[in-house]
Amino acid sequence: MANSITITDNRTGECLEIPIADGGIDAQQWTKLLPGIWFFDPAFGATAAAASAITELDGERGILRYRGYPIEQLAQSSSYLEVAYLITHGELPSPAQFEDWRYEITHHTFIHENVRKRFMEGFHHDAHPMGMLVSAIAALSTFYPEAKNIHDPAVRQKQIIRLIAKMPTIAAGCHRFSVGMPFVYPDNSLDFAANFLAMMWKTAEPRFDANPVLARALDVLFILHADHEQNCSTTAMRVVGSAHADPYTATAAACAALYGPRHGGANEAVIRMLNEIAELENVDSYIAAVKRGETRLQGFGHRVYRSYDPRAAIIKETAHDVFEITGKNPLLDIALKLEEVALGDDYFISRELYPNVDFYSGLIYQAMGFPIEMFPVLFAIPRVAGWLANWVELLEQDARIARPRQLYVGNPPRDYVPIGERQ
Ligand code: CMC
Repeated sequence: MANSITITDNRTGECLEIPIADGGIDAQQWTKLLPGIWFFDPAFGATAAAASAITELDGERGILRYRGYPIEQLAQSSSYLEVAYLITHGELPSPAQFEDWRYEITHHTFIHENVRKRFMEGFHHDAHPMGMLVSAIAALSTFYPEAKNIHDPAVRQKQIIRLIAKMPTIAAGCHRFSVGMPFVYPDNSLDFAANFLAMMWKTAEPRFDANPVLARALDVLFILHADHEQNCSTTAMRVVGSAHADPYTATAAACAALYGPRHGGANEAVIRMLNEIAELENVDSYIAAVKRGETRLQGFGHRVYRSYDPRAAIIKETAHDVFEITGKNPLLDIALKLEEVALGDDYFISRELYPNVDFYSGLIYQAMGFPIEMFPVLFAIPRVAGWLANWVELLEQDARIARPRQLYVGNPPRDYVPIGERQ
C-alpha cells in the first residue's frame, strides 16, 4: 500500500500523488496542481503549521511528552529548571550543565530599575497583572537592543536565560504593585519556585522560606505548563518570530495570546464559574445552561485531547498535597460534582469533553493565596520556556515568514463615489 495521497482536479483530470511524511502532506505540492485554490482552515484545525521536535501530544491517547520524556515522569522526578533546560536544549543536562544553567538563571533574575520604577509603577493602581506582564516583557526589548541579533546563537541563549529568569520577578512585581506592597528583590539563595513565592509574599521578615510542599507543588505546575506544542500562544510566538522580531517582542505577543479566556485565562474563568455556581444544588442547572449553549463549562474541552488531559490527572494529585497544607478549597466540592455530572452526561461524552489542565489548577492557586488575576500570569512564567524553544527551532529551520492566504468574500470591483454623491 502506497504511503501517499492522490488528488485529482476533476476539472482537468490531472492527478498528483503526494507522499505522506511524519503524518502530514506537503501543502506546497498541492499548490503545484491547484494554484490559487487554498485550504480553508482559519483555526488551523487540520493544518500542521510546524515540524517540531520539542513536544509530542497524542490527543486520542492522552499522551504528553517533552523531548520524548513522559510528562508523568518529569512531574514526578524533575524540576522546572531542569525541564526548561530540556525543552530549550533538547537533552537533559549533565550535573555540570545543570549547575551552570541554575547559576545563570539565578544570576539574571534582577530587572533594570527603570523597568520597575518608571515603567511598572506607571500603571493604574488596579491594572490587571497579566496586562502589566505583557507590556513589561515587550518593554524589555528596549533594554536589550542586542537581542535583535537573532541569528547569533550566543545572543539568543543570553535572551533565553534573561527571559526565563526575569519572568517570576516581573510577575511578582505586578502582583505587589496591584496590592500596594513594596517590590521584593530576588533572593539568589532560593530555588526558582521558592524565590518566586518569596517575591510574592515576603513582608517584614529578613528571609521568606516558603512551605516546601507548596514550593514543590508550584514547581510541578510549572513543569506541566512549560510547553504544549502548537497552541494559540506558541503559534503567536512563531508567527511574530517568523517576521524576525526580537524575542522579547515575540514573547510579549505570545503572552498576549495566553491572556485570552479560551487559552491561559481559562483557569481564572473556572474560579469565576465556580463562584457563580456557589452551591452544590446549582450544579445541575448550570450544566443545563451549558447544554442549552448559554455558556461553556470552563476548564473543559480541548482542541487536541479527546480522551483526557494527562496534565489534569497530575494536577488533581497535586491538589490533594496542597490542600493538606492550606485546607481544602471550599470550591473543590463544586468542581468535583461538576466533573462527575459532566462525565456522565451524553452532551459532554459525545463531544469528547473532559477536564483540561485549567479545571483544577485555579483551585490550587487560590488555596495557595494567589488572587485570581494572577492565574494566567502563573501559566505564563513557565510557558516562556516552550515559546523560546519554538522560537529557536523556527529560526534554525530558517522558516519563511508566516503569511497565510485568504478566501476573498467581499464586494466585486466597483467605482469610488465622491462623498457628496453618496446616498
Ligand atoms: N463547554 C461546553 N461545550 C463545549 C465546551 C465547553 N467547555 N468546549 C467545547 N464545547 C462544545 C462546543 O459547543 C461544540 O459543540 P457543537 O458541536 O454542538 O457546536 C463542540 O463542543 C466542539 O467545540 P469547539 O468550540 O469546536 O472546540 P474547539 O476545539 O474549537 O475549542 C476550547 C477548544 C478549549 C477553546 C473549548 O473547549 C473551550 O472553550 N473550553 C473552555 C475554555 C477552556 O477551558 N480553555 C482551556 C484550554 S486548555 C489550556 C490551554 O491550552 O490554554
